[in-house]
Amino acid sequence: MFTTTIQWSYTLYTTDSVPEWLNEHETVLVAEEGREVVGVAAFYWFRDAMKRPGYRFTVENTIHVREDQWRSGVGRKLMRALLQEARAIGRHTMITAINSANEGSIRFHEQLGFLEVPRMPEVATKFGKWLHLVLHQLRPSASSR
Ligand SMILES: CC(C)(COP(=O)(O)OP(=O)(O)OC[C@H]1O[C@@H](n2cnc3c(N)ncnc32)[C@H](O)[C@@H]1OP(=O)(O)O)[C@@H](O)C(=O)NCCC(=O)NCCS
Repeated sequence: MFTTTIQWSYTLYTTDSVPEWLNEHETVLVAEEGREVVGVAAFYWFRDAMKRPGYRFTVENTIHVREDQWRSGVGRKLMRALLQEARAIGRHTMITAINSANEGSIRFHEQLGFLEVPRMPEVATKFGKWLHLVLHQLRPSASSR
């Protein structure tokens, strides 16, 4: 949180804040190795579908894999399972919002079939720099990956 622009927040996740985070997400999956969590993937409503029900078939995803497991296939397995869950409950579109500098995550989502939609320059700031957002989109119902 304090050293990375992967997430645009300054709030650390703690054992106290995890229940609230879990509550905010519709589906949460974890990858475990032994008894340790090595990755988490989740989705939640895009643009507050409770207030704007037109968005109710669209979700936004998040995924984090523990750094010592990067490029081990954990992320791919998690995302495939997450897409399957989204399909199973009838979600039509999944959006991912990525820092434009996070090329690894962009490649990761593209290899799963996500397609880039708009780039939004200078929509956030962290560490005194403007940050640019790249949106990608995939239709779980139309994807077999
Ligand atoms: C992005 C992230 C979830 C990927 O998880 P992972 O377990 O490392 O990904 P996988 O090993 O399953 O990779 C699957 C494929 O995605 C692509 N990929 C993954 N990371 C990549 C990278 N850094 N650069 C280029 N391609 C990458 C590759 O095609 C890879 O297949 P390959 O290893 O056979 O070439 C992980 O790097 C991560 O947690 N990053 C920090 C948090 C983050 O950026 N989350 C997303 C916020 S939007």
